[in-house]
This record gives sequence, C-alpha cells and structure tokens, in this order.
Amino acid sequence: MKPVKVGVLGLGTVGGGTVNVLKRNAAEIARRAGREIIITHASAKDLQKPRICNTDGIILTDDPYSIINNPDIDIVLELIGGAGAVKDMVLTAIANGKHVVTANKSLIALHGNEIFAKASEKGVIVAFEAAVAGGIPIIKAIREGLSGNQIEWLAGIINGTGNFILTEMRDKGRDFNDVLAEAQALGYAEADPTFDVEGIDAGHKLTILASIAFGIPLQFDKIYTEGITQITRLDVEYAEQLGYRIKHLGIARKTADGIELRVHPTLIPERRLIANVNGVMNAVLVKGDAVGATLYYGAGAGAEPTASSVVADVIDVVRALTSDPENRVPHLAFQANALADIPVLTADCFQTAYYLRLSAEDKPGVLADVTRILADHHISIEAIIQKEPSATDTAIPIIIRTQRTLEKEMNAAIAKIEALNTVTGKVNRIRLETLG
Ligand code: HSE
Repeated sequence: MKPVKVGVLGLGTVGGGTVNVLKRNAAEIARRAGREIIITHASAKDLQKPRICNTDGIILTDDPYSIINNPDIDIVLELIGGAGAVKDMVLTAIANGKHVVTANKSLIALHGNEIFAKASEKGVIVAFEAAVAGGIPIIKAIREGLSGNQIEWLAGIINGTGNFILTEMRDKGRDFNDVLAEAQALGYAEADPTFDVEGIDAGHKLTILASIAFGIPLQFDKIYTEGITQITRLDVEYAEQLGYRIKHLGIARKTADGIELRVHPTLIPERRLIANVNGVMNAVLVKGDAVGATLYYGAGAGAEPTASSVVADVIDVVRALTSDPENRVPHLAFQANALADIPVLTADCFQTAYYLRLSAEDKPGVLADVTRILADHHISIEAIIQKEPSATDTAIPIIIRTQRTLEKEMNAAIAKIEALNTVTGKVNRIRLETLG
C-alpha cells in the first residue's frame, strides 16, 4: 500500500517532538497503522531557527498554505497553536478534504463546534488528543474506554505550569515569578503565561473534557476560572495542618440542575493520589457510574509526551482512512445530533465545601459572631483552628473548614463576616473538594 503523506504546520516544541517520534519509531508505527507514514512537508515561520528535530528528507517552507493546498498530502498536523490564523488553516485543510490532527486546545475549545461540523460535512477526521493533558490519552479514555458509563464528575490537574509553581512554592518556599520563569525556559508555559496562572489554559482543556464526558457542545465562555496568584504560603501551611494540599483543579460535575464547570485553587485531602501529583505532571480523576473513580496520570506538556498523543492520533486516522465516516468514533464522543443542551450553572449555584481564613480581634464573642453568621446561612463547620496572637499583632488568624454548601450562601455569609467590626480585611476563601 502507498505510504500516507503527512504535512506538519509548526516546528516548535510539539512539531519538533512529533517529527522526532514519527521518524524514530517509523517501523513500529507502520506495523501498528498498517501503512508507512511519512512526513513529506513541514512549515515554520522562521526557517533559519535552530530546531530540536532532524528535518532531512522533509521539504521545508514558510508558507503553511502550500502544505494545506497540496493535493498529495493526506493528513495535516496543526502544531502552531493559538486560535487566530490557524482557524482558517484548519478550515481550509478540511475544505480540501484533508484529515487534521491538532494539539491546539484553545482552537478546539473556542471554535471546535464549527470545525467539527465542517469536518463531518466533508467526511474527514479532526483529532485532538494532545490538546488535553499532553501525553495522557485522556480523550481516548473518556470517549472510548468509558463510553458505557454515565460520567458523574471529573477533576484534573490539567496545567503543568501551575502545578509546577504550586509544588515549588510548597516544597522549596520558592518565589512565584522565579518558578514561572523556569517553566517558561523549559517550554511548558503558554506564550502568554497568564493563560497558565489565571486558569485560562485549564479552562480550554476543561471545556473539551466536559463536552466529551457529558455530550454537550463546547462552551468555553461558560467556564468559571480563578487563578493561583492569590495563594499564599500561609494558606498552603494551614491547609497542610488540616490534612489538605492546594491544587489548581479543573472540575466538571453533573448535578440535577445542570453542569458545574470550574477552574480554581482547591483544597484536596492529602491522602488522595491526585494530591500527590507534583511538578509539571498532570492527572485527571474521572468518576463513572459503572467503573467508579479512575485516575490518569502522566506528563501534561513537553515535546515528546505531547508528540506521543499527536502520533497516536495520526495512527488512528490512518487506521480509519478506509472506514465509512458514519461509523467512526464521533469527534465529541456523542453523535453530533445527540449533543444535549444541558444548562451550565453559574458560580452562585456551585455546591462545594470551603476553607476560610480571616483575621479577627482577640476578644470574647468574636468567634460566636462568625459561627452564628455561618449557621444563619445553613453552613455547617467541619473544623476550626484559632491561632494565638503574635507579639506584634493583636489580630488572630481563624481558619474554618466548612461542609458543602451553595456558593450563593457562602458569598452572603462572607459579606456579613467582613462587615463585622471585629474582623479586619477580607476573608480568604478557597474551595475544598474531598473527591470521594
Ligand atoms: N502551558 C501548558 C501547561 C502546556 O503548562 O500545561 C500544555 O498544554
């Protein structure tokens, strides 16, 4: 059989890693795919730039459209990133009848509904395993391995840069910006690192996970995101005293009223495996009604881990080249005409437990006032720590761990607590999940 011809757009970290893996493992890959797969063309913005890959035998160009419009190319790998110019490149490749493999989470999260509709019209595949959690085959696991389940919830550490920062801050007391600079130098961070630390990147990935888990359209605009920039060393220490770790989680949960989609720092019990996922590693915990809780762990970024997912997608596409498009695994796990319009809940409707840290005067009745307010809002206290006053400050830190409550009730209670004369400053609130 003739070899399958692949064109690569972008020869940066992921593109370079993909070229290396496809070349190095060519023989094994051909045995798996049933056909030889060769990269015939690749594009890069700056052809003079030093590369991590050997491009011998590949025709290089700085014009991606010369690849997208080349009738000899069967599969286009979009490894440029970003949701701007590449959207047109992917749509043009689809219009030209080419299958597309992409690692681009923002493109899929923001424009996936349109891209998949066009791909279905043309009978081509758009594969995107590398868009979520790098080398972990989480898309395949949920879309195929768990397809007999009703997914109840999932929670993931899906941004390696953020996890690296939190881990280094906790373990080594390092400074936030210093760790971020290291993540950038290692090629983990996004071009705009606020995407990592403010939860935007995790939000893109959660959008995709939620869609394939619950059979809903991609809806990035409905995700609640909160970053890690407000996490202090003090909170990390108090959380540990209560038996918790702080992780930046993406959480999707189906409730009777709709779906919660949220990215925020979260206290999780230190005994959970996912609480011990450190550095740039990613992990996703998925709870299905039949299978129970399952955990997927691995490198969430980096050249070859991400290439591992890209190449697996290429092999899947090659295996499906002769299949009837109607009988392929649907892009978003559920048949396109069966996607459900389940409401995505606003933050007011989230149900979660909380860690609260406040600073209060050390005098009789202060704690009683705070607990009365919580009780008035039907918020039950699970644990409380009151610290001794320091020599220099008469205000004392009070740390409270509550049971699950409606976020609307917690917001109202916090506003009343902050209005007490005996409480100084803001109440520091971090959501808490037991992930049981
Ligand atoms: N910036 C991302 C991360 C890269 O740190 O996880 C992988 O998507």
